[in-house]
Amino acid sequence: MKIRVLGSSAGGGFPQWNCNCRNCAGVRNGTVRARPRTQSSIAVTSGSADDTPTRRNAMPWALVNASPDILFQLRDSPGLQPARTVRDTALAAIVLVDGQVDHSTGLYMLREATRPWALWCTDPVYADLTRGNPILDVLSHYCGIDRRSVPLAGGGFVIEAIPGLHWRALPVASKPAPYSPNRAAPLRGDNVALVVSDERTGGKAFYAPGLAAIDEPLWQAMRSCDCVLVDGTFWTDDEMIRLGLSRHRARDIGHLAQSGEGGMIEWLERLAGGTRKILIHINNTNPILDEDSPQRSELERRGIEVAWDGLEIEL
Ligand code: MLT
Ligand code: MN
Ligand code: ZN
Repeated sequence: MKIRVLGSSAGGGFPQWNCNCRNCAGVRNGTVRARPRTQSSIAVTSGSADDTPTRRNAMPWALVNASPDILFQLRDSPGLQPARTVRDTALAAIVLVDGQVDHSTGLYMLREATRPWALWCTDPVYADLTRGNPILDVLSHYCGIDRRSVPLAGGGFVIEAIPGLHWRALPVASKPAPYSPNRAAPLRGDNVALVVSDERTGGKAFYAPGLAAIDEPLWQAMRSCDCVLVDGTFWTDDEMIRLGLSRHRARDIGHLAQSGEGGMIEWLERLAGGTRKILIHINNTNPILDEDSPQRSELERRGIEVAWDGLEIEL
């Protein structure tokens, strides 16, 4: 399978339009060595690296999360436009891990599709996207969607249009979006982690851009994968409070910080040596974005990568 990181930043992107934190100001004026990043999304296919964009039998891809930056992300990903017909895309289905604004607003930008999108999401996410933030109702006036339910138990699911991949969703402790009627009392399935397996190569990936805690089923799933793409939002639990940008701790808004006791780094250290460990969904305040920061060096020493837009992973 191939995974392409379309957007590696958390909601707001990097630099964030109205932010003058050290990172955002620094990347704008050239005093911080860092790559700009768009908002959180990946694409997954069972194809291999030699699929060229114009091949007639171009492999179909799943878009996992639809970021508000999707149009720029597609422009930067020629492999997702095979140009077989006058209106075309290699995206054959959309999977959502939650109903957060940064993961769902891109659906509006994809409204010109020539057929309803096969859209995979859990029941609580579907409820949020037809109620608190009724994007899917609005879309029914454009391309519409063909909704598929992501199961939380049993054998997982298969996306018919993307043969060769098997998908499994695990509920994660996180938070539904602020607009959700369930914000204060999260439901099982508001947020999920995905395990994607390639039936041909046996490669297995874990993807969880939002994760406040790691329970036993999640840990077992992480341990079973060759590559984990995990919540890289914040370095410290009080990052936004210290910068005077928010009253909330990372864990209060559904994210496990990297540093500190019980933090993401400790978990990643316990994974088997050959596991590829990648932080994704990185908030613009996170010091790991600065390639010259001590925090970034610490990750390098520990063999933990920081995702960037355009990164491709073959499993
Ligand atoms: C989050 O995951 O907490 C976000 O990135 C929220 C947002 O979209 O603003
Ligand atoms: Mn987010
Ligand atoms: Zn910032």
